[in-house]
Amino acid sequence: MKIDILTLFPEMCEAVLSSSIIGRARKNGLVEINCVNIRDFAGNKHNKVDDTPYGGGMGMVMAADPIYNAYKSLCAEGEEKPFLIYLTPQGKVFDQKTAIEFSNIKHIVLLCGHYEGIDERVIEEIVDCEVSIGDFVLTGGELPALTVADAVCRMLPGVLSDSVCFTEESHYSGLLEYPQYTKPAEWHGKTVPEVLLSGHHLNIEKWRHQKALEVTLKKRPDLIEKSELSNKDLKYIVDLKNKKHDI
Ligand code: ADE
Repeated sequence: MKIDILTLFPEMCEAVLSSSIIGRARKNGLVEINCVNIRDFAGNKHNKVDDTPYGGGMGMVMAADPIYNAYKSLCAEGEEKPFLIYLTPQGKVFDQKTAIEFSNIKHIVLLCGHYEGIDERVIEEIVDCEVSIGDFVLTGGELPALTVADAVCRMLPGVLSDSVCFTEESHYSGLLEYPQYTKPAEWHGKTVPEVLLSGHHLNIEKWRHQKALEVTLKKRPDLIEKSELSNKDLKYIVDLKNKKHDI
């Protein structure tokens, strides 16, 4: 998979994407990520990429041409048109399902806005999808683009050491993850649940699944509504609500 990030701050993106798991995945050739400086495509003497808004008002608007030219240079690299995602608080809120969908696309381009926005005409012409990382406003699209790039890359085969890493974690199955414990077996007077020390894999699996249901019901009941639970799980949830089990 290839990801290009169109940004005015390539160093900011590069710093994050060179570290940790994504940095290793890039080195191992599991994903190609390039940070492309929109300013390199300004096409004018002073490398100017923004201007005042028509109609007046505060701030500056990113001009169409530098963004369009940067995007066109990426289109020229491959046969297939890349899928362009514009990071904006006006977009569809990003979630795990979208991360999985994006991870199946061969070439994505993440467009980071700045200032008071981007000239609407270039958005109309090149953007395939608008994505927000939540209902709040950041100073630019770089942190959202990095968030999307990270969530997408870790879904690619080989990026995490074992696919169980993500199939069992929060949100993958529509539920939050069960609690985890490590050594020592007793810490500050608190012990590890007995079943986890038993070595009985079936019981451990059952306990973890029930805990995932409990945690989700307690912390994010909205996810229970959305997830497709088996009849057995639904009964367990009803019992939990009726307090037959301790939460
Ligand atoms: N740019 C500024 N705020 C944003 C947000 N919440 N999501 C995506 N892009 C943004």
